[in-house]
Amino acid sequence: MKFFLDTAEIDQIRHYAASGLVDGVTTNPSLIAKNGGDFIATIKEIAGIIPGPVSAECLATDAETMEKEGRYLAGLAENITVKVPLTVDGLRVCKALSDDGIMVNVTLCFSAAQALLAAKAGAAFISPFVGRLDDLGESGMSLIASIRTIYDQYAFDTEILVASVRNSLHVVEAAELGADVATMPPKVLAQLYKHPLTDKGLADFLADWDSTGKARSIV
Ligand code: G3P
Repeated sequence: MKFFLDTAEIDQIRHYAASGLVDGVTTNPSLIAKNGGDFIATIKEIAGIIPGPVSAECLATDAETMEKEGRYLAGLAENITVKVPLTVDGLRVCKALSDDGIMVNVTLCFSAAQALLAAKAGAAFISPFVGRLDDLGESGMSLIASIRTIYDQYAFDTEILVASVRNSLHVVEAAELGADVATMPPKVLAQLYKHPLTDKGLADFLADWDSTGKARSIV
C-alpha cells in the first residue's frame, strides 16, 4: 500500500519525506489556499521533493479550460498528476488527458457508480472521500470495499486512493480492503507510529540499561 501526504505544507513534506515512507503527495485548492503560497511555485517545489505522484488540482469547471489547465499543470514536472472533479466535464478531461499519457486523479468521489465512470475514463487514481461520508453517517469503508470489488471484477488499472482520511483506523481499514493508496494529513501519518506500549516498553528497556550504570552508547 502506498502512503501519500495530503498537504501543501512544504516543511511537513520535507520532514516526512525523510522517513522514506512517503510515496506521493495530494493537494487541492483548499490545501493550497491554507498554505498561502503561490499555487504553481508550491506544486513545483513539492514535485522536486517527492519523486512519486504529486496531485495538482484544476480550478476551472468547464472542460475546455480545465483541459488547458491540466496540460499546463502536467508540464510543470514529470511526476505531476492532474486532479479533476468527478463531474461530466471532469471525466471528459480525464479521458482526453489519460489518452495522451497524462496521469489523472479524479477527486470528490462519493459513490461506486462515480468510481466506475472514472475507471472507464482512464483515471490513474480515483479518490473516494471516506471521512466526509462518515460525517454524514454513511460508511466510507463500504464504498472502498465496493470499488475494490468492481475494479477487480474488470481488472481496471485505476488505483483506489483513499482520501479524506481522518485517523489511523481509516488507514488500517483501507489496507485490509486492498486499497492501493491512502492519502493522509501529516498528523495521521504521525499517529500510525504511536502505541502507548511501544513508548512504555522503550522507557522500561532504557531504564533497565541505565540501572547498570553503563553509558548509552554502542558506537
Ligand atoms: O484528500 C481529500 C482531503 O483533503 C479532504 O479531506 O478532511 O477535508 O474531508 P477532509
